Amino acid sequence: MALTIEQELLKAVSKRRNFAIISHPDAGKTTLTEKLLLYGGAIHEAGAVKARGEQRKVTSDWMEMEKQRGISITSTVLQFAYSNYQINLLDTPGHQDFSEDTYRTLAAADNAVMLIDAAKGLEPQTRKLFEVCKLRSLPIFTFVNKMDRPGREPLELLDEIEQELGLKTFAVNYPVGMGDYFKGVYSRRQKAYHLFDRVAHGKGEVPEIVIPHGDSTIENYLDGDLYEQTLEELELLEEVASDFDLEAIHAGKMTPVFFGSAMTNFGVRLFLDAFLEYALPPTPRNSTLGELEPTYPDFSGFVFKLQANMDARHRDRVAFVRVCTGKFEKDMSVNHARTGKTIRLSRPQKLFAQGRESIEEAYPGDVIGLNNPGMFAIGDTIYLGKKIEYDKIPSFSPELFAYLKNPNPSKFKQFQKGVQELQEEGAVQIMYSKDDFIRDPILAAVGQLQFEVVQHRLLNEYNVDSRLEPMPYGAARWVVDGWEALEKVGRLFNTMVVKDAFDRPVLLFKNDWNINQVKADHPDLRLSAIAL
Ligand code: G4P
Repeated sequence: MALTIEQELLKAVSKRRNFAIISHPDAGKTTLTEKLLLYGGAIHEAGAVKARGEQRKVTSDWMEMEKQRGISITSTVLQFAYSNYQINLLDTPGHQDFSEDTYRTLAAADNAVMLIDAAKGLEPQTRKLFEVCKLRSLPIFTFVNKMDRPGREPLELLDEIEQELGLKTFAVNYPVGMGDYFKGVYSRRQKAYHLFDRVAHGKGEVPEIVIPHGDSTIENYLDGDLYEQTLEELELLEEVASDFDLEAIHAGKMTPVFFGSAMTNFGVRLFLDAFLEYALPPTPRNSTLGELEPTYPDFSGFVFKLQANMDARHRDRVAFVRVCTGKFEKDMSVNHARTGKTIRLSRPQKLFAQGRESIEEAYPGDVIGLNNPGMFAIGDTIYLGKKIEYDKIPSFSPELFAYLKNPNPSKFKQFQKGVQELQEEGAVQIMYSKDDFIRDPILAAVGQLQFEVVQHRLLNEYNVDSRLEPMPYGAARWVVDGWEALEKVGRLFNTMVVKDAFDRPVLLFKNDWNINQVKADHPDLRLSAIAL
């Protein structure tokens, strides 16, 4: 008997899990991604995603700038099947200058994996990205990596997460030893030790030995001291730690913690198995029709990222759409909420690392790539049936500001077009001075490289020169109650008033001290580091 559309959607949704990884550079995101793909059978030998040495220069980059610098600017979506599930890993750029992309990718994710280097604990980029996850109450899974190297005490790391992020922790597994003595983990779910054999650079899956708690054969594998110490720590953990609470995990209030070593594959499978059991399936999304369940029968989704020139041979622009409801089918004609136009989605793509393959259908939780040049801006909704618009994707306070000058007045039109398109694409935030006589756009970025990308692309894609004039500001705050509220407070000191791309008032400050001063002088003026 054929399934109804609701039944079909329910089945697809129950089998889908989607997540993004948040971490500080060098914690091992590329390595973990590779190992997840290895266990998911999407690649057969680790090293396929991150080509090493010479090969890396040849294969990994799509844009000239990336080649020159050996960094990865773009994010892609990796879909793989594992243990009866379809997993969508929303990859994010490794370089922190492009964290605006990561913020937006988190808007499309249903779960986050927080990757921590065992020797370093929480690092600045991880904390920043955690705040974005918290805003959306995303369930957060913690993977403490590099246990094969000397690191900090596991209990101390758990405590740091609890104290500094205000998240309860539940260690799903606990390490046996560390550094050269790292032997594996104790699974608190299975009440068993998983001991591993080391494999050089973890190219293949690692063999493991499973020994139930209380089985004396453990003594053949662990020396007495290490075993005793592990038992003691586990006892202590049982005493002080919170009980497992799946509801709290789903609400983003408790994080399941896993210890392992992505490089040697220790703990990767245990992590994947538990993740699939605890992670949220594609979640309902807020829209102008209220919260829409993924099983809502009409297709809808939103654009969370635009990317130009993925394929150097075609000057194209791919819109990444997170499917939220209904079923997507190739060649479908959909409505575009912002413009009211109808668009035929004729070349949809599934994205896997650098390769692209065409897709026939997609379900909620999936991400599709659309090639409709110029049609889309970040946050756009596409839909069938009743008109829907999803909540805007928030912008976060930029930290660098500069006037972008056009030294060539005859090229005014191309300059404007380039700036406008790069803003819609989300390459950078654009603001303007409140005074109409200063027409130069203000580029507002999280990292210096964003400026360079904008200038590089203006030159290469729009054939216009530009000049940057840095501004002495380090933070922006949106005025929550709009222009009227701002007028009421009168003159403000040590701040510049600008407007964003949507004509909303924004204040630029040199530093936090200036922000606090304005807040103290004008307690009624509501300021926000996030524009919703
Ligand atoms: P990123 O994407 O988060 O920036 O990190 P990436 O995976 O590139 O890893 C950063 C470095 O940490 C790499 O070393 C990588 O091999 C190492 N690494 C990742 N996971 C582990 C682990 O579990 N244990 C240990 N000991 N090291 C790990 P590299 O020297 O920078 O590069 P490579 O020559 O190994 O590629």
